Amino acid sequence: MELRPLGTSEIQISPIIMGTWQAGKAMWTDIDDNESQKAIRAAFDSGITTFDTAEVYGNGHSERILGRALAGVRQDAVIATKVFSNHLKYDQILAACERSLKNLKTDYIDLYQVHWPPGSFGHVAVPMNEIFKALKELKAQGKIRAIGVSNFNRQQMEEAAQYGDIVSLQPPYSLFWRQVDSEAAPYCRENGMSILAYSPMAQGLLTGKFGPGHAFKKGDHRSSNRLFQPKHYARVQNALDQLRPMADQKAVSLGQLALAWVMAQPHTCAIAGARNADQARQNADAARIQLSDSDLATMDKIGRTVTDHLDDNPVLWKW
Ligand SMILES: NC(=O)c1ccc[n+]([C@@H]2O[C@H](COP(=O)([O-])OP(=O)(O)OC[C@H]3O[C@@H](n4cnc5c(N)ncnc54)[C@H](OP(=O)(O)O)[C@@H]3O)[C@@H](O)[C@H]2O)c1
Repeated sequence: MELRPLGTSEIQISPIIMGTWQAGKAMWTDIDDNESQKAIRAAFDSGITTFDTAEVYGNGHSERILGRALAGVRQDAVIATKVFSNHLKYDQILAACERSLKNLKTDYIDLYQVHWPPGSFGHVAVPMNEIFKALKELKAQGKIRAIGVSNFNRQQMEEAAQYGDIVSLQPPYSLFWRQVDSEAAPYCRENGMSILAYSPMAQGLLTGKFGPGHAFKKGDHRSSNRLFQPKHYARVQNALDQLRPMADQKAVSLGQLALAWVMAQPHTCAIAGARNADQARQNADAARIQLSDSDLATMDKIGRTVTDHLDDNPVLWKW
């Protein structure tokens, strides 16, 4: 898989990044630790070098599974993890990073991301200078190689950039969820930052496997996903029907086509979540898909039949 630069850093990342929220188990259902480890290893063996996790995914469980799965190949992998919004005070960041290093069984994190802006979910709105004081210290100590943010808007990135170098934004982004296109994504491109798109298959909706009226099992957080709400079903299914002939003609799946669209956007890599090795391999395989300008224009038009009816709120869930 041809690697790409991570923002202005010296780090090279794969255009498909393996997402491991699933491996944390919490907020998903029927996740098996062995399957998660096999998925991570299958991703690595298929050319994915870059892995995304977070301290909050199962309270360290995802990080621990990732650390175990990458044992022996850590030096060839790029690990991105995140500090949650309840740990943004100076001392809390330093302690959170130590815990992540231990969970991941490593002595450095390649990309350390602020998961949500300060003040999210009712947590203390720690001043940005305090957050970056801790992050820069970790970087100077070699415990983290680069700093990124997630779920930040343009203004929040502008403020953060006054205190330190940010190499990436991790926003929700897919053919069906494009709120960052208006302000945040242009800011990233203007400033040489990478966009690491999360939920690039709209949490599975873009694979076409969830028909109208699909009900998630109790405990699967996707029942709160705003795109899965009944008012969007007809438009979503109609858009998927229009995308199917293109996927068939290219002999790829709908999910792979959706990933290829994300990767074709400037400065953008796709963080594809997977619960097993089959899914991870299929997602890795999407890196070989080439889309022409005409394919991209057609997909853009189809995607807009869904996104034109969404509000400006970039948060994917009704939390
Ligand atoms: N920064 C943040 O706030 C944030 C938020 C969300 C996600 N993320 C990161 O982004 C990653 C990806 O996002 P996501 O998991 O929300 O959404 P996603 O990657 O769009 O969707 C993942 C889901 O799609 C289905 N899927 C994946 N590959 C498939 C395949 N080849 N065939 C059929 N179905 C497939 C699976 O559904 P089933 O489980 O039903 O099989 C899987 O759980 C996460 O793991 C996490 O690392 C970050």
